[in-house]
Amino acid sequence: MRGIILAGGSGTRLYPTTLAVSKQLLPVYDKPLVYYPLSVLMLAGIRDVLIISTPRDLPAFQELFHDGSHLGMRIEYAEQSKPRGLAEAFTIGRGFLAGEPCALVLGDNMFHGQDLSRVLWRAREHVERDGGAVVFGYPVRDARAFGVVEFDEKGKVVSIEEKPEHPKSNYAVPGLYFYDSRVSDIAAAVEPSERGELEITSVNNVYLNRGELTVERMGRGMAWLDTGTPEGMLKAAEYVEAVQARQGYYVAAIEEVAFRRGFIGASELRVLGEGMPKTDYGRYLVSIADEAEHNGSVVPKDVNGV
Ligand code: TTP
Repeated sequence: MRGIILAGGSGTRLYPTTLAVSKQLLPVYDKPLVYYPLSVLMLAGIRDVLIISTPRDLPAFQELFHDGSHLGMRIEYAEQSKPRGLAEAFTIGRGFLAGEPCALVLGDNMFHGQDLSRVLWRAREHVERDGGAVVFGYPVRDARAFGVVEFDEKGKVVSIEEKPEHPKSNYAVPGLYFYDSRVSDIAAAVEPSERGELEITSVNNVYLNRGELTVERMGRGMAWLDTGTPEGMLKAAEYVEAVQARQGYYVAAIEEVAFRRGFIGASELRVLGEGMPKTDYGRYLVSIADEAEHNGSVVPKDVNGV
């Protein structure tokens, strides 16, 4: 399976901070925002990732991740010249996907929680085995800003509505989606919505109408954090700081995830940590390499959702 991170957009709700820099490159506590969605793809075992961003911001992402080989990955880059909508990811990414199934994550979406790895693997396996699409439903207090899932009495999905004024449930669809190999063709046929965007909800409704859409409900033990506004950024940073200070385990340390997923070995992890000697982040990576080399094995797996 391949992965796409859609990290363009204009970030107008974060002006003036995002006048000159991508939202996804801003820090959430101790690392760039884009680390969080990247770690989600990596937790799903995905090693081939396409990062899509604006012509202005793409060079900065390239400087951050290069070709991904230091993480045991292959990272490619593509431009979205204008924020025409989320569904455009699949037409821009058609060549990269090369007919493989894929996961799309939005560059400003953060997920964290006990069950995350299992949830991701289930979605991946479902799409690889049976085809179709898997998206998630996450309970929020006010669903009006999202795609919203309508369920019937039996819990079956009846519709997904984009930004409804009167949501039919409080289940929003977060920015993480799994699709089979037909998604580029389906996205290419989507017409712009009234607000002029190629909506991911339109893609999801094609799968729904074919009876091939699964909506997995995410439980209350999962954190899905909003980073669209200054307040959201601050709250997300506080969340990460609290978890890391309390547990001593890092959220979305991509080098750690690469190691635990077997993309790189302990000696490569050590080198990456030693490159950042003045930071707790770097020392943390080195401590994991130490522990692994000392024990001769990988440390507990229920860490950081891994
Ligand atoms: P949004 O939060 O909807 O848009 P934005 O990031 O431009 O912010 P604002 O509303 O403040 O102007 O986008 C969600 C994510 O999807 C974000 O990571 C940017 C990305 N995105 C694209 O890369 N291309 C697009 O065409 C759209 C609509 C969003």
